[in-house]
Amino acid sequence: MIVVEELFKSFNKVNALDGLNIRVPKGINGLIGPNGAGKTTLIHVLTGLIKPDSGRVEVMGLEPWSQRYELMRKVGVLLERPVFPTNVSGMRYMLHVIRVMGLPEKEAVEALRKVGLLNHADRKVSGYSSGMKIRLGLAKAIVGRPELVILDEPTSNLDPRGRIELLKLIKTMHRDEDISFLISSHVLPELQRVCSWVCLMNEGRAIEQGFIDDLLDKYASKIYAIRVSKPRELAEALSGLNGLKVRLVKDTVYIKGDASIFLQELLNLVIKTGNEILGFHQFGRSLENVFLKALEEERHES
Ligand SMILES: Nc1ncnc2c1ncn2[C@@H]1O[C@H](COP(=O)(O)OP(=O)(O)OP(=O)(O)O)[C@@H](O)[C@H]1O
Ligand SMILES: [Mg+2]
Repeated sequence: MIVVEELFKSFNKVNALDGLNIRVPKGINGLIGPNGAGKTTLIHVLTGLIKPDSGRVEVMGLEPWSQRYELMRKVGVLLERPVFPTNVSGMRYMLHVIRVMGLPEKEAVEALRKVGLLNHADRKVSGYSSGMKIRLGLAKAIVGRPELVILDEPTSNLDPRGRIELLKLIKTMHRDEDISFLISSHVLPELQRVCSWVCLMNEGRAIEQGFIDDLLDKYASKIYAIRVSKPRELAEALSGLNGLKVRLVKDTVYIKGDASIFLQELLNLVIKTGNEILGFHQFGRSLENVFLKALEEERHES
């Protein structure tokens, strides 16, 4: 869907993109990285807003800078700080958008309905709250059913309900209309919930990219907590196994070791000791952990 090879873009002396290589598959995908990593710059390049200094970029088979008008129909975008004309209503703004794109009027209504703005469509944009402005930007991004929608920190100004609704909308549009997404965000648990693939950027390069499950496995700790009905019995039985560290704290058994080795035996021992599993948790199996650990490793290497 997106191919980026050896991409460079600098502003004065800042290398915002510094030899970036990524390949984004179809699906719901995340773009993460610390402030200043180059996420917004990349999004500007991908949507043909700025011309890179060098490197290859392909988005849905198009070269964004030279083919940005063709790209507009295939790729929708919500920028980090979208600007709207203030003196018009939401509806009038959307009618202008679809006219530029050559789409029928009903598409404007449909997009406003999807983002939950139809009831406010006749109000002036200047009177919109920041969350409503995000919704309007989102309506522009999804109008006309693009193949790919790129969102730069879409939830940063939304209230909790607005966030949940947005994530639901993204999932629904992906499932029902086969629209792919690339979402930049600092809210990692949120991305972990909706994305199947993620790229971690730092200083203009991709330091990790891949399917989230694989990245979670790669960086997760080997420490597990299991809560059972008879913890003492289970802890004692587990202590007999080779290569495991077992500790009992209150009603929780902590195990340090390789799950691929002890998991089957653990289940056997749970049954043997007449236990019931009440909870199971692996520490560090989170996108936040991937983010912190991968950046830490990168710092040690450089
Ligand atoms: N128009 C510009 N002029 C000068 N420097 C710029 C410009 N745009 C970006 N930069 C610099 O390029 C680097 C990457 O910025 P970018 O906005 O792409 O990061 P980001 O990953 O989106 O960060 P954030 O998470 O804070 O949004 C930063 O050092 C930034 O200061
Ligand atoms: Mg940014």
